[in-house]
Amino acid sequence: GRPDPCTVVIFGATGDLAERKLFPALFELDRSHLLPDHFAIVAYSRSKLVGDAFREHVKEGLQKFARTQPLDEATWKRFAPRLEVVSGAYDDPASFARLREKLDEVSRHHATDGNQLYYMATPASTFPQILHGLAEAGLLKREEQPGQRPWRRLVIEKPFGHDLDSARELNRELSAVLDEKQVFRIDHYLGKETVQNILVFRFANAIFEPLWNRNHIDHVEITAAEKIGVEGRGGFYDETGVIRDMVQNHLLQVLALCAMEPPVSFAAEDIRDEKTKVFRALRPLEGREVAEAVVAGQYEGYRKEKGVKPDSRTPTYVAMKMNVDSWRWQGVPFYVRAGKNLKQRLTEVSIHFKSVPIGLFAGEGATCQRLQPNVLTLRIQPKEGIALSFESKVPGEDVSIAGVTMDFNYAESFDKPVPEAYERLLLDCMRGNATLFARQDSVEQAWSYVTPILRALESGEGGEVHTYAPGTSGPDAANAIPARDGRRWTRL
Ligand code: BG6
Repeated sequence: GRPDPCTVVIFGATGDLAERKLFPALFELDRSHLLPDHFAIVAYSRSKLVGDAFREHVKEGLQKFARTQPLDEATWKRFAPRLEVVSGAYDDPASFARLREKLDEVSRHHATDGNQLYYMATPASTFPQILHGLAEAGLLKREEQPGQRPWRRLVIEKPFGHDLDSARELNRELSAVLDEKQVFRIDHYLGKETVQNILVFRFANAIFEPLWNRNHIDHVEITAAEKIGVEGRGGFYDETGVIRDMVQNHLLQVLALCAMEPPVSFAAEDIRDEKTKVFRALRPLEGREVAEAVVAGQYEGYRKEKGVKPDSRTPTYVAMKMNVDSWRWQGVPFYVRAGKNLKQRLTEVSIHFKSVPIGLFAGEGATCQRLQPNVLTLRIQPKEGIALSFESKVPGEDVSIAGVTMDFNYAESFDKPVPEAYERLLLDCMRGNATLFARQDSVEQAWSYVTPILRALESGEGGEVHTYAPGTSGPDAANAIPARDGRRWTRL
């Protein structure tokens, strides 16, 4: 259904995320008539752009980044008057007092009933200041019981901390002023249709789940390759690196959806409980073990990017072997890779099934090759879809066998465009549905796993950071990870 009337307050409203993702998503929701009738946006930013100059700036961004082009003027006519601005600092009580006045005015003018969604589209270092500013100005109200009105919700963007300790500290700060139910930790991968479809694929079909375990699956490969480099985000990225940027959140979430047990229901807490169990079952890696299971890389030229330290050791690529120590997954490795500046953009999960027990067809003719195990590929992006490879007889007099594929393609099967992750996620926050958001305990679990790996890499005990040429599939050293188990990367 449509969300309650509300005001969305965006901190960091002139930043990259707001321009590329948030305004386009809100605009598209408005175009599709999914926003409440009584709705407003208050943009809070340190820039001095106000009033129509700010609206013009937003419009220019939309002309570049809105999903539907050319920009729909009728929607813009509805959208622009819902856009208000407060320019202020993050550490200045007077600015927050002005925000409060603006919110009162907007709530009256747009009849938003005082419901407010605060979106932190700012660097993580500003979160404590903003939280403090909001709390001091009386703009946060702890939810004492479900359904309390007016509601106050807070959306934060990753990284949720820099390591386990800072993640705990952030969670303490959040829980000092808000109930966990009011906090929405965005992981935009969970908003992707193809990622949501992992659970539907597994649990709305009877034929895959009986095979979804150590008895039938040999290993799982998860790849998130990007063609782009750090693209002007060098300062942020150099402090972050690929493990904090992609693995701690996006890829562990994808892994959890693939590895979790069936939830007792599709309710937010039931799903999040099961995902947390997967994180708890990840086999810890520390110290020298990291050198065996993890290969880090940095693309050539990275150190010359703006904002990057000339002697930086920050990895822009990582390949690793993860194990989920659960009944279901014992002995099934998950090989996970992520990197920037690689040869192609490709995010997918491939489930590699075991080989047939005996080679009935071996030697049945000169062209009979070794049988390839079945592979199920969940293509998250691009060419969104799912493919299953299997062996087939090549037509002819002898038994010659070749691999073929059954392929499902979103673009061919559905005539609707795939919405952007942020559209779905923003709508869910407004509706108060936390299913697709990361919960405090699972974020901390994910950090517990990742922090010792980061420490080992940072100290050098976890191995060197290999360089790789841009436009390749990453450092060759990464091949050793599956090779040690007699396997190889099959993608990229
Ligand atoms: C973001 C990272 O969270 O995800 C970026 O900060 C990365 O570095 C991006 O490029 C990848 O997202 P997508 O949706 O393009 O796969």
